[in-house]
Amino acid sequence: MITSADANIIYQVNHGVFVLQIHRPDKKNALTQTMYQALAQGILAADKDNDIKVILIRGAEDCFTSGNDVNDFVKTPDSGTERPSVQFMKAIAHASKPIVAAVGGLAIGIGTTLLLHCDLVYAADDAFFQLPFTRLGLCPEAGSSALLPQILGHQRASELLLLGDRFSAAKARDYGIVNEVLTQAGYLEHAMNKAQELAKLPGDAVQTSKALIKRNQASPMNDTIQAELLQFARLLKSPDAQAIFQAFLNKKKS
Ligand code: COA
Repeated sequence: MITSADANIIYQVNHGVFVLQIHRPDKKNALTQTMYQALAQGILAADKDNDIKVILIRGAEDCFTSGNDVNDFVKTPDSGTERPSVQFMKAIAHASKPIVAAVGGLAIGIGTTLLLHCDLVYAADDAFFQLPFTRLGLCPEAGSSALLPQILGHQRASELLLLGDRFSAAKARDYGIVNEVLTQAGYLEHAMNKAQELAKLPGDAVQTSKALIKRNQASPMNDTIQAELLQFARLLKSPDAQAIFQAFLNKKKS
């Protein structure tokens, strides 16, 4: 396997399971562009590697990720080039190997939307989820504007995406975003056991089945991501959003 381009993203291989660990404990695992790049490169490399059967994404035991690094939101993105965050969204949306996620503690923003692209999601009972886009003056990303209504129906998707409240692991399970809720002490081991179980099955059968399950959502996904990004980029520059980001960053300085 390749080595990670960012020390805050750890790669590990465990009996056919490629573990991608988000590790930036001092910033609640907030994701920077170089971290997205390492996540995207890891997924793409694992997808090509015949010895890897399954990808498992995890954070710290008590913190999955607080989402996009807010510092990133105040910088004007370069136009013309595809940002690593977008490369990551596309890589996770189109991976042919199954992806298992293990979520403990907080899963905010992309921490929740990335789960919609995973095939099996296990959470600790203390985990909470949040899609705070409108609260930040932003809109949904990573395909969530299409996937959430598909999974939950219009009203429940609107509840999560428009109001942007936190919700519990039990609610995430009841809404169909999470497969199982386990104890904090047991969820990582359980997720790894499920990943190992998948890794032992015939790879072609598993990957073909995944492709068939996703067949009807695969083609328009890049269009959805692109449509969201257009609005997201516009809203990022809005006075509402910039004031909210500055308030978050200034609070930390005072
Ligand atoms: N971007 C950048 N820095 C972040 C961050 C993020 N998304 N989330 C946390 N951090 C940083 C904090 O600024 C703080 O840094 P400091 O120690 O240098 O001041 C450190 O991580 C610890 O966070 P803190 O806010 O003190 O922890 P908390 O337990 O009180 O709150 C959160 C945790 C996640 C609820 C809170 O940090 C938060 O709301 N973060 C922003 C989440 C967000 O809006 N993400 C974008 C989604 S689109």
